[in-house]
Amino acid sequence: MSQIPAVDAASGKASPRHIAIIMDGNGRWAESRGKARIMGHKQGVEAVRETVRCATRLGVEALTLFAFSSENWRRPEEEVNFLMELFLLVLGREVKKLHKNNIKLRVIGDCSAFSARLKKKIDEAQALTADNTGLVLNVAANYGGRWDIVQATRQLVEQAVQGELQSSDITEDFFAKQLCLAELPAVDLMIRTGGDHRISNFLLWQLAYAELYFTDTLWPDFGEQAFSEAVAAFLSRERRFGCTGAQVRAWMNESK
Ligand code: IPE
Ligand code: IPE
Ligand code: MG
Repeated sequence: MSQIPAVDAASGKASPRHIAIIMDGNGRWAESRGKARIMGHKQGVEAVRETVRCATRLGVEALTLFAFSSENWRRPEEEVNFLMELFLLVLGREVKKLHKNNIKLRVIGDCSAFSARLKKKIDEAQALTADNTGLVLNVAANYGGRWDIVQATRQLVEQAVQGELQSSDITEDFFAKQLCLAELPAVDLMIRTGGDHRISNFLLWQLAYAELYFTDTLWPDFGEQAFSEAVAAFLSRERRFGCTGAQVRAWMNESK
C-alpha cells in the first residue's frame, strides 16, 4: 500500500504531490487564429510559466511536463527545428529564474538525440539547480514511456551480464528504481489538455495509479483557472488502489 498518499487533516483529502501534464493543443490554438503552428508553441511557454507558479503555490513536490515525445520527430522538419530552438532559448532565458525560486530542473528522455549545444544547456541547467530543495520540475523531452521501460531493462541486463544481478532480484520495486522519476513520489494526477483522451506514450509504468484528467482547454489557454479545476476534480475523486470504497473511507477517517 506504499502508494497511498498522506491525507490532509483539515480536508480529509490528499492533495497531489506529483502532477504530470501532457501539454497538447498548441498547433490547434495557433491554427484557430490563422497563425502558424509554431506560434502556438511559443504561446505555450507562457502556460508553462503560469503552471510552474501554480504548482509552487499549491506546494506540489514534483511537476512533470511532456514537452516533446519520441514520436514528435515525425513532424515536419521546420516544426521540429523550431521546437529545439525554442527549448534552447527557454532554457537559457528561464533557468536563472527557476534557480532563484529554488526549483530543481531535470530533463527526462533520450538526450543523446539532441544537438551538442542543447545537451550542454541541459547539463548546465541541471547542474545549476541540482541542490535546490523546492519544486522538482521534470521536462520530458524526446521521452517515450516505452523507451523508459527499455532503458531500464537494458540497465538491468547490463548488471546481470556483470554477474551482479539474479532474475529473482527483479521485483516491481527494483525495476521501478531504474525508471525515470524513480526518486519522486508516484504521479497522483495526470492532466492532458487539448481534448484528446490518450496517453501518447507518456509515462506508462508511472501512471499505473494516477488519476487521469482530460480537458478540452488548449495548452496555451491553460492557466490558474484550468489548473485549479484539475486539482478540484482530483480532490473529488475516491482513490481506491484496489481496495473497496468502504475500506478507503475507514482509513480516511482514521487518519483525520
Ligand atoms: C503539443 O501541441 C506540443 C507538442 C507536441 C510539441 P501540438 O503541437 O501537438 O498541438 P496540436 O495537438 O497539433 O494542436
Ligand atoms: C503528445 O502530444 C506529446 C506532447 C504533448 C509533447 P501529441 O500531439 O504528439 O500526441 P498525439 O500525436 O496526438 O497522440
Ligand atoms: Mg497534439
